[in-house]
Parts: sequence; structure tokens; C-alpha cells
Amino acid sequence: MSTDSTDGTDGPVTEEITVTVNGEPVTAAVEPRLKLSDFLRYECDLNGVRVGCEHGVCGACTVQQDGRTVKSCLSYAVQADGAEIETVEGLDDDGSLHPIQEAFHETHALQCGFCTSGFVMATKELLEENPDPTREEIETGLADNICRCTGYQNIYEAVEHAAEKMEE
Ligand code: FES
Ligand code: FES
Repeated sequence: MSTDSTDGTDGPVTEEITVTVNGEPVTAAVEPRLKLSDFLRYECDLNGVRVGCEHGVCGACTVQQDGRTVKSCLSYAVQADGAEIETVEGLDDDGSLHPIQEAFHETHALQCGFCTSGFVMATKELLEENPDPTREEIETGLADNICRCTGYQNIYEAVEHAAEKMEE
């Protein structure tokens, strides 16, 4: 439902949405122009959602929406009303890192780390669809994500390592 500002004066129109974020329902009144990435960062305090290019090129803002990766800078929060969103913060299991996170750590697949949560979320979808990808399939699967630091080799090794871990 759309509403005017709460004081009755002309103000931003807001829409009440409820989104399940990392398993918890979040209800908020948001402006229709609020990006999903900004909703996650500023309404949900999930700073693992990184905002780089803001136009769908770098992949730093990648999250899963209803089990599929999306670039959260390219959609609006109101479009996620009723959806389930998973961010990198939702991957840990009672404080233990997810095998993909462990693999990125163990293979030194990051330097500044800005891109890492996006790569981890993209890797999650890749390995869900293809648990034993070839190097070429990994390169293709992560082609929507950009890293300015690592030169990619350690990232590809991290995905291979994660695949081994998840098979165990
Ligand atoms: S910030 Fe969304 S793709 Fe770059
Ligand atoms: S580790 Fe710095 S951009 Fe990827």
C-alpha cells in the first residue's frame, strides 16, 4: 500500500514491503525508487552487499533472490516484496563459515575484499547448478563479477576447492 509522509504534508511516497532476508522477515516502508542493494545495506544493515558500479557491471552487489543470483543494484526494493533474499551474511552456520567462504579464505582468493561477497554468492549458484565445474565453466560462471585485485587465478582455485569441500 502506498502512503504519503506520516506528518500529513507532501513528502515522499512510500510502500510497505515485507522481505524475508536471511530467513528473517523484514517489513519496512520504502520509497519506490530505493534500490534493493540500498535496502539491504541501510534498512537491514547488511554491509556485505557491496555497491560498486551501480549499473550491473561489477557484480559486487550480488545476492540470491528466491534461489537465483541477482545484481541488487539493478532492482528496486519494492520488487522484492514477498521474496526471499540471501546475502553473504546468511551463509554461515551458527558462526561457522560456509565451505565457499572457507575456500576463499584458504586459497587467498581476495586482496581488498570489495568484490568477495559478490563472488561468493555467484559461486554458490554456480556450484548448486554444477557441483563439479571445469575451469572453463568456472570462468564462464563468474563472468558477471569483476575483481580489480587478484588476477582471478586464486578465485578460480577457491571455487575448485569449494567444490571439493562441498562434495565431502
Ligand atoms: S554494484 Fe551492482 S553490479 Fe556493480
Ligand atoms: S579483492 Fe579487491 S576487487 Fe577483488
